[in-house]
Amino acid sequence: MGFFITFEGVEGCGKTTQLRLLKERLESCGEKVIATREPGGCPIADQMRAILLDAKNSAITPLAELLLYAAARAQHVNEVIVPALQRGETVLCDRFTDATVAYQGHGRGLDLTVIGELNRLATGALAPSLTVLIDCPVEIGLSRALARIEATSGAREERFELESVRFHERVREGYLALAAAFPERFVIVDGSGDVPRTEKLVTQALSTRIDALKRGGSPASQAGS
Ligand code: TMP
Repeated sequence: MGFFITFEGVEGCGKTTQLRLLKERLESCGEKVIATREPGGCPIADQMRAILLDAKNSAITPLAELLLYAAARAQHVNEVIVPALQRGETVLCDRFTDATVAYQGHGRGLDLTVIGELNRLATGALAPSLTVLIDCPVEIGLSRALARIEATSGAREERFELESVRFHERVREGYLALAAAFPERFVIVDGSGDVPRTEKLVTQALSTRIDALKRGGSPASQAGS
């Protein structure tokens, strides 16, 4: 099995950019790496992503939203993540099960036990080897995310950016609680600075963790998250 590394954080924290930079660094060392994301990552799950993130769908109920994230994840894990890990490739995923705990659990207030069960069902209990939490104050992240929306034309994926600041604060608190609960899996990196500074911090934080993972032979696990 290959290594499974996920990136998480509030809107505009910079995780997508840092995931791309890590992919480039690992590939330059000769590793075979795939980068993917949730919700989405394959054509069927991408169709669910379009429903989930469309600002016109604000009437979606919290439960319908939760089940769609789980459905998209079940497809993505089965079609993309597990086959790549079985080929021995490193999988970098932009958001995974922790996002459901943070957004639907801490953000929306849905039952964390139900979310844990659904996550296990959707993933077959696959858990990341390592999760990089790019942490920053929500005001910083949201101002970056809103600037990105204004600069982007085309498909609008802004439903979550339009939630209240308090919602995003609960999401951030949820992520920090997860990191505290699973310190052996999480690395927290300060994402409030610019891209080069965050990249330096990610590189520093990951160098020892990835070496330890390789030495310990602890690739993607079937243990719960
Ligand atoms: P992103 O491409 O900016 O990461 O957008 C994905 C959005 O979907 C983001 O607002 C977080 C949200 N999300 C959830 O609410 N629950 C989930 O399980 C996942 C994967 C994402």
